[in-house]
Amino acid sequence: MPLYKVIHFSPSIKVLIWKITEPFDELFSQVLLKEKTLGRLQSMKSEVHQRAFLSVRKLLQEAGHNDLQLHYDEFGKPHLENETHISITHSFDFSAIILSDENVGIDIELRREKVMLIAEKFVDESEFRFLDKEKKDDYVSRLTVIWGVKEAIFKIRNEKGISFKDHIFVAPFEMTEKKAKALLTFGNLNIEFDICFEEIENYTLVYAFQKGNQ
Ligand SMILES: CC(C)(COP(=O)(O)OP(=O)(O)OC[C@H]1O[C@@H](n2cnc3c(N)ncnc32)[C@H](O)[C@@H]1OP(=O)(O)O)[C@@H](O)C(=O)NCCC(=O)NCCS
Repeated sequence: MPLYKVIHFSPSIKVLIWKITEPFDELFSQVLLKEKTLGRLQSMKSEVHQRAFLSVRKLLQEAGHNDLQLHYDEFGKPHLENETHISITHSFDFSAIILSDENVGIDIELRREKVMLIAEKFVDESEFRFLDKEKKDDYVSRLTVIWGVKEAIFKIRNEKGISFKDHIFVAPFEMTEKKAKALLTFGNLNIEFDICFEEIENYTLVYAFQKGNQ
């Protein structure tokens, strides 16, 4: 499938989503890759990962950029050559990028019951208070949002030592509102984030915006 969806969040913020149905060769033939990227692609063991990686280059091209303009810092965080901020995510059948004039983070996750087994590792007491384990589908949906929020915020801040459970807190939210608020409390930092999320097939897409300039 080509481009699955574009969210024009604002004139300067755009989310592009790809549903990865194409075989490797088709994707490979449609993207321009620099040598370094080719090396990375060849070193990937799984074809699922390779196709996801290529689909991100397709998304970049859809947005008027290309792989030659994409660079990674020492932590693995992607940067574009111009002023535009980028964040990247991929999970099995989907990939997504967000482009913005401010620092942003994005995450897409497959919703699965397995998330309940690791909830204790990333959910704080304050968050457990608004979760209801008895309503299993809703519990899995909310846990996946919380996980996605923390991944997206981690991608914005990219700081060593951030713990999902101890430093990032998601305020109570309604699934129907598709919005949430979160706080990162880490060292001297207290940073608020506005969160948007939506369920796409059996995946949950989350993107986060930092408030303020810390
Ligand atoms: C780096 C990390 C955020 C990637 O997230 P993920 O859900 O595994 O994978 P995603 O597909 O959503 O994201 C991968 C993309 O994130 C980007 N990325 C990688 N490292 C990054 C970083 N340090 N900062 C920002 N973005 C990063 C890359 O673009 C990467 O894709 P690409 O290399 O193909 O371009 C994640 O692996 C991580 O390290 N999380 C923090 C660790 C942690 O605390 N885990 C849980 C504790 S309970």
